[in-house]
Amino acid sequence: MTARLTIQRPDDWHLHLRDGAALAAVLPHTAARFARAIVMPNLKPPVTTTEAAQAYRARILAALPAGMRFEPLMTLYLTDRTSPAEILRAKASGIVHGCKLYPAGATTHSDAGVTDIRRLDDALACMAEADLPLQVHGEVTGAEVDVFDREARFIETILAPLAERIPRLRIVFEHVTTRAAVQFVRGARAGLAATITPQHLLLARNALFAGGIRPHLYCLPILKTEDDRCALVDAAVSGDPRFFLGTDSAPHARHTKENACGCAGVYSAHAGIELYAEAFESAGALPRLEAFASHFGADFYGLPRNTDTITLVKSPWTAPAAYPFGDDSLVPWRAGEPLAWQLEAGSAP
Ligand code: NCD
Ligand code: ZN
Ligand code: ZN
Repeated sequence: MTARLTIQRPDDWHLHLRDGAALAAVLPHTAARFARAIVMPNLKPPVTTTEAAQAYRARILAALPAGMRFEPLMTLYLTDRTSPAEILRAKASGIVHGCKLYPAGATTHSDAGVTDIRRLDDALACMAEADLPLQVHGEVTGAEVDVFDREARFIETILAPLAERIPRLRIVFEHVTTRAAVQFVRGARAGLAATITPQHLLLARNALFAGGIRPHLYCLPILKTEDDRCALVDAAVSGDPRFFLGTDSAPHARHTKENACGCAGVYSAHAGIELYAEAFESAGALPRLEAFASHFGADFYGLPRNTDTITLVKSPWTAPAAYPFGDDSLVPWRAGEPLAWQLEAGSAP
């Protein structure tokens, strides 16, 4: 008998949708699975104002194919100059659900990011007051810091002091990748949670070099050790509400990944819930998937849980070698390789 799993419709609490033709290419993948997503603001130029977030939201809704339902939850990109007034405008808009901290230079499209977090203390205090969550890309920059240590160093030098300095600020430590991060979140004060990606649950850093370099598995924070991966799986399947789903699906055109200086980002939206089902099944924890994917994130953000459902069936399929992506193409994770689970036909709204 084919295994089936019906869960309340999930949400993606960390997603890159891009803009223009790229947006139109990837949005249907997310909307077929997820009811809502926290949409990252690292466009070029970044989404730094409420007005820009409103315009971006309208472009996302306009790109949604007829008959699909999806709610984009917008975020603002913090810069050294973000003002408390902008935070208040964001909160009042009702469409902005957080502000994102990119340490300048830490990841894709982060050059307009924050150079010194202390400069933002007024804006962050205002976010705490307005109860607008902060989302963080948790890596220090600095060429002298080993790329595998950047997350752990961020916890010590930036995140732990920040959580203490602004005790009522709610914080999502995005895409955690290490045992150190899991331990930090477990021991942290109330109001601090973390998202976990499918690639960090399913892959350790050896995968980056399996038979040769694998640019499509390069993302930031970079894949870590097998021990880190096991700690992430334990956290995800533990039923601890501080850990929830955020794919960090991050599309890049094929030629910018297969390049002498390839971009960071793994594209997973085409199988955004199926990959988590695989990870939870391997851990013998499929019954825990629903809370991780469909409950804890909504609860943290103070939004209602979805009332409709999706059904996954255990029936192998092969991801295509590439998807069209504007004038270019997009190589998804598992291109040409099998995926164990698929969405049952009719599961999309
Ligand atoms: C993301 C992107 O491409 O926008 N890339 C990534 O490797 N995760 C940015 C980010 O989330 O850091
Ligand atoms: Zn990031
Ligand atoms: Zn991201």
